[in-house]
Amino acid sequence: MLIRTPEQDIERILFTEKTIAARVEQLGAELTEKLGHERPVLICVLKGASFFYIDLCRSMNCAIDMDFISVASYGASAKSSGVVRLIKDLDNNITGRHIVIVEDIIDSGLTMQYLRQLFSARGPKSITTVSFLDKRSRHPDSFKTDLCGFEIPDEFVVGYGLDYANYYRNLPYIGILKPECYK
Ligand code: PRP
Repeated sequence: MLIRTPEQDIERILFTEKTIAARVEQLGAELTEKLGHERPVLICVLKGASFFYIDLCRSMNCAIDMDFISVASYGASAKSSGVVRLIKDLDNNITGRHIVIVEDIIDSGLTMQYLRQLFSARGPKSITTVSFLDKRSRHPDSFKTDLCGFEIPDEFVVGYGLDYANYYRNLPYIGILKPECYK
């Protein structure tokens, strides 16, 4: 029986596994330099950031705490609903802690803004944001992330945690999805 693989739906690869690994190492080193003495709380924004988050945590050469939050605004659609839904909150108190919000992508910037506001109200000592990808042309400058893996054009990307309708997350690279697969 022929199995339809996710690879068949990819127009081209934007970032290979090797390129991703090298960039994540750099980001881990930057974060270690910045917060290494503070035992930061790294917050994974499920589900998209999961692969990036684990690699980033492994690349940090210091003590960290790990926590997870689940939010969604896209559902099974290619367009944001415009409303961020909180599905699962953090397990731990972040008051007085240095926190790092770890995202896979900033598109409209709505999710990161929502999380900044949510966490600010809890009195952390500092908030650092890091996103593996950033679609700079899609959001205002005020939504810019502190650290970013790669700025990308306005293309529909999947893989390394990013999905379309929960599909393609397990591709080890970032690829551009063929338009006929989501339109
Ligand atoms: C995606 C992605 C970011 C957010 C970015 O999450 O993981 O969290 O959208 O888009 P924005 O900048 O326009 O808000 P999604 O809601 O698809 O949930 P998922 O991470 O579980 O796929």
